[in-house]
Amino acid sequence: MSMNGGLEFSVLPTPRIHFGAGTLAKLPALAAAFGRRMLLVTGRQTLRRSPVASRMLDELRRAGVEVACLEVEREPSPELIDEAVALGRAKPYDVVVAIGGGSAVDAGKAISAMLLQREPVERFIEGQPGFMPHDGRKVPFITVPTTSGTGTEATSNAVISRVGQGGYKRSLRHAAFVPNEAIIDPALMTTAPPELTAASGMDAFTQLLEAYLSPLASPYTDVVCLSGLEHFSRSFELACGSGASDVAVRADMAYAALMSGIALSNAGLGIVHGFASSVGGLFDIPHGTLCATLLAEATRENIRQLRATEGGESALQKFATASRILTGTTTGNLTDDCDRLVEHLETLQTRLDFPRLGKYGVQEADFNEIIPATRSKTNAVLLDADAMRRILAARV
Ligand SMILES: [Fe+2]
Repeated sequence: MSMNGGLEFSVLPTPRIHFGAGTLAKLPALAAAFGRRMLLVTGRQTLRRSPVASRMLDELRRAGVEVACLEVEREPSPELIDEAVALGRAKPYDVVVAIGGGSAVDAGKAISAMLLQREPVERFIEGQPGFMPHDGRKVPFITVPTTSGTGTEATSNAVISRVGQGGYKRSLRHAAFVPNEAIIDPALMTTAPPELTAASGMDAFTQLLEAYLSPLASPYTDVVCLSGLEHFSRSFELACGSGASDVAVRADMAYAALMSGIALSNAGLGIVHGFASSVGGLFDIPHGTLCATLLAEATRENIRQLRATEGGESALQKFATASRILTGTTTGNLTDDCDRLVEHLETLQTRLDFPRLGKYGVQEADFNEIIPATRSKTNAVLLDADAMRRILAARV
């Protein structure tokens, strides 16, 4: 809001979005429009599992596009980015294409952002010593997500990880890093296994809920979040179960993830993503799993704090709205609807068996390191160290 109380917000660019089953077929022409030399970044599974993708590669080669391939196994480290960039300096690429989950897409996004820079990527990562702002010059970037989760196909940041003691999980960010083209083809998503579908779906849902509740939310991000929540709610459990191979179900999930990316870029995220950065830097936990396991407790704590906060009612109204969308019902009472949201999230947590943090080695003794490193500037409500401790303790 501006000083005089009028509406005020800004909106980042979005990619040109190609959404729908079969849209992967557009990739050869879209890539060739940028030039003849292409770097293709994939996860380990993508190409092996998909006959569509190997046909697409043949078509690219027939169109005269020279394709260099890079496989990414895990969330990208600074070394992975720097090595890929060093290889690319010898023969400059005209376009970078990433097909895969969040790790492959973020790796591709970071490589495209670094190919025209001389410094190592770590210089440009937010919060790192010696940080230098990036000038936004990059090689054009096309993304083809094969999971529905991070929303990175629509965001301006790539998450880079160095996991372990002194580790971090932080962003390389510039408005120019929003992909030039995003091809979102739900037909590529029908083979994602149930655990991956559940964890990545919960990441998208967490992003929708946290962006919706952010103090930086605008009427624009609100509609984006509500639309995403509606699609998520009607298809999430189907996508994790009997509807896994239904392209329409996968399309709903892909749409929810896309909306979550647009929303988080513009409104920011809350405490769960604060933990994703702090806990995720110290322990090797997949991002979606971390979100899934913390969301119910974080929501309980947010609602508890808002009830004790003067002026907390408008945020509670938003939690109640999310509750009505997610459960499909209302009690007609704000307090009860908020409680039902927490209950529903707990039911999901139990039914989908989200693993506890302890499974990845997190112990109560680690909280003193985790909590001071956890940022939550755009959480729904201010949380102190005790509140953060309660969330973690309930899921350790
Ligand atoms: Fe996320």
